Formats: sequence, C-alpha cells, structure tokens
Amino acid sequence: MRTQVGIIGSGPSGLLLSQLLHLNGIDSVILEAKSRSHVEGRIRAGVLEQGTVDLLRTAGVNERMDQNGIIHGGFSLAFSGRQQRIDMQKLTGGKTIMIYGQTEVTKDLIDVRLEAGARIEFECPAVDIEDYDSRAPCIIFEKEGKTRELVCDFIAGCDGYHGISRKTIPQDKILLFEKVYPFGWLGILSDVPPIDEELVYAHHERGFALCSMRSNTRSRYYVQCSLDDHVDNWTDDKFWDELRYRLPKSLADKVITGPRLEMSIAPLRSFVSEPMRFGNMFLAGDASHIVPPTGAKGLNLAASDIYYLSRALTAFYSEDRKDLLDRYSEVCLRRVWKAIRFSWWFTSMMHKTDEDAIHQRLQISELDYLSSSVASRTSMAENYVGLPFEPFA
Ligand code: FAD
Ligand code: PHB
Repeated sequence: MRTQVGIIGSGPSGLLLSQLLHLNGIDSVILEAKSRSHVEGRIRAGVLEQGTVDLLRTAGVNERMDQNGIIHGGFSLAFSGRQQRIDMQKLTGGKTIMIYGQTEVTKDLIDVRLEAGARIEFECPAVDIEDYDSRAPCIIFEKEGKTRELVCDFIAGCDGYHGISRKTIPQDKILLFEKVYPFGWLGILSDVPPIDEELVYAHHERGFALCSMRSNTRSRYYVQCSLDDHVDNWTDDKFWDELRYRLPKSLADKVITGPRLEMSIAPLRSFVSEPMRFGNMFLAGDASHIVPPTGAKGLNLAASDIYYLSRALTAFYSEDRKDLLDRYSEVCLRRVWKAIRFSWWFTSMMHKTDEDAIHQRLQISELDYLSSSVASRTSMAENYVGLPFEPFA
C-alpha cells in the first residue's frame, strides 16, 4: 500500500488530520489497532475549547456538535463550603467553551471520513516503523494475521501514549519529561440531570470532586481516589455518597442519583516528549504529551497540534514549502508547555495530598485569592478557555 500521509491511530488527532488533509486534496490512510466499536465507545473528555470548535467547523464536522453541544460561559470552584463562579466569557472578552463528548467527536469524524471514501483500517495495529528519516518511510502493520507495509511520504504518529511511534525513536534522540501524580480519578457516567448548569470543580479535605456533564440529561462526575483503588470497590451508592460528601451542602442537596452507564479509574500524569518531529515522522496529541484531566486540555492540545500539522503538510504539497514542517515541533511545544503548566497548577490547587499541613492552607489561600482578585480569575479564565493558536502560514 502507498499513500501521501500514513496516519497511525484513529483517535481525535488521527481522524481530524485525515479530514483536514482530505479537504486540501492530500491522501492519507489511517491504521487503527482496535475495532471501530471500541474506538467509538471510549468515554473520555467532554470540554471543547473555542479553537477546537472552530477547527471542527473548518473540518466540516459540526452539524451534530452545533445541534447538541452546550455552550458554557463559565464554571465554578467549590471550597470551604462555598461556590465561586469564574465568569470566563466576561473575563476573556466573550470566549466560551462547548460541552460535547469526545465520543461524539470521534463518531462524527469517522462518519465523515468513511462517507468520503477514506481508508481507515480498523484492527490493523502498526508494529514497526522503518526509515522515518528517509524520503519513503514505511509503517509495518498487521492485518488478519498477515504482516503488510504502508509506504508514505510522511508518517503522523497519532497513536496515543501507549502507541509505537514515539517508542520507535532511539533514546538518545528524544527527551522525556514525566510527573506521575499520587492519585487517580474515579468517574461515573449516568443518565441523570447535572447538579448545575455549568461545571463545578470542588476542593475538599476528603479529596477533589468534579461535576461535569454530556447533556442536560446525562452527567459525568469524578472523585479523587487512591492509585491502588479499583472500580470493584465502588457500588453506585458509595460513589454518590462520596460525591455528596465533597460538595458544599447547597450543591450536595441537588445531586440526583442513578445507575452507572460506565465507571472507570484514570491515573493522572504530566508528560512531554521533545521534539515532536523526527525526519519525516511527526508526533501529535497523546503520542507526544499527556496532561492531568483537571484543566480539560488533553483533547484540545491534540486538536491544536493537528491545526499546525495540517497547515504544514498543506503548505508542503500545495506550495512546495518546507518551512512550516521545520517549525511544527517548536510551535506546538510552546502551547503544550503552557497547558502542562496550567493543568499542573490547577491539579495541585484542587487535590488532597499527603504533603505537610502548609500545603492545604496554601491551596485554600490560592482559592481565596481567586475569589478576591479579578486579575487572578482573568488568568485562570484565559487558560481554561484555551490560549490562542499562533499565526502559522
Ligand atoms: P488517543 O485518543 O489515545 O488515540 C490514539 C489511537 O491510536 C487509539 O485509537 C489507539 O487504539 C490507537 N493506537 C495505539 N497504538 C496503535 C498502534 N500500534 N497501531 C495502530 N493504532 C494504535 N482529556 C480530557 O481533557 N478530559 C478527560 O476527562 C479525559 N479523560 C481521559 C481518560 C482516559 C482513560 C484517557 C486515556 C485519556 C483521557 N483524556 C481526557 C485525554 C484525551 O482523551 C486525550 O488527550 C485524547 O484522546 C488524545 O487524542 P489522540 O488522538 O492524540 O490519542
Ligand atoms: C469530563 O466531562 O469528562 C471532564 C470535564 C472537565 C475536565 C475533565 C473531564 O476537566
């Protein structure tokens, strides 16, 4: 098989890249290790930044999103028994976020790609990459028990944290930065109305809690848990009790409970690999960086990488320009590190840790400062709503 851009992974980054390249007349093939139903069923992020929404509109995958997505102009921080709203829209000159699940984004992208006749090879894991710094890089993959080759001009490694593209790079050519947090998030998805119109991030001495949603009838809630915890330790009732415990009474009284549609535990990690380009292979999304979910940045960073990568590849094919490909890694990493910083800061402020007593007082003091200072809230709002993309043309 041959194509212009060989894409490994059909998560949001691989699918969005394939769609944007297609709109610019560039051919691609996506290799995906898992089945279509597995990819479409994974419950992950729920918050889209304005820039991500705009990019999905450019990609022409906005019909269901614009029908069903919910625009939010703010969110709340709950702590010390009270609730402080961050008026994002007012503090950022009108910017908003959209509540629309990653699951739906993925389904929309797969539908639009397949309708256009795209080649997405599900259940075809890439097992090796050859000659990534040559003019004809090659992805070795498996299909129905046989080994095949996909030769291309460029490889896009969009295969997530556990993928093979980053792992192919020799250790002396890549810099890795990692912080693993000593706690995880236990999440429940349930068909019950959310407690509030907007998201609520709660600080509590028993640990962090988050009240999110997928629609006006479907809620997504999380509670901080220990790393060795397991979903089997949690009945639905135990989860709802723990959630209520961690919220101010006025909010706890509004929790409507119901059976789980899904329950899972996610570990929290900050991770960056540098650079994001190796010869003719480009890494994007979780393949190159991971943020703890507190800042809701994972999916949005994947989208901004693809914004830059699709532009760089389009400039190469349509104008014979290599300069944007050369700048890709540096431009992405500037935005990545800012999101890593914000997510680390927000995570550190909200979670219970075993650190000394001063740490908890500092958290409350930081939350107090946010409540009393417009400057502090403006900084938080600007980061949460998503930092702008750099000019890249
Ligand atoms: P992925 O979505 O991971 O896609 C990578 C794809 O590559 C997958 O389909 C995988 O099957 C495929 N793949 C892997 N290896 C191979 C191979 N060898 N060959 C072929 N295909 C391969 N972010 C938030 O903002 N909020 C959240 O609440 C949140 N929750 C999350 C929960 C979990 C369990 C995880 C893992 C992530 C979560 N994230 C969250 C992060 C967010 O979902 C990711 O940032 C986003 O999915 C990144 O998209 P991606 O396309 O780069 O990677
Ligand atoms: C979610 O809805 O899953 C979600 C929302 C905000 C976050 C993390 C996860 O910060």
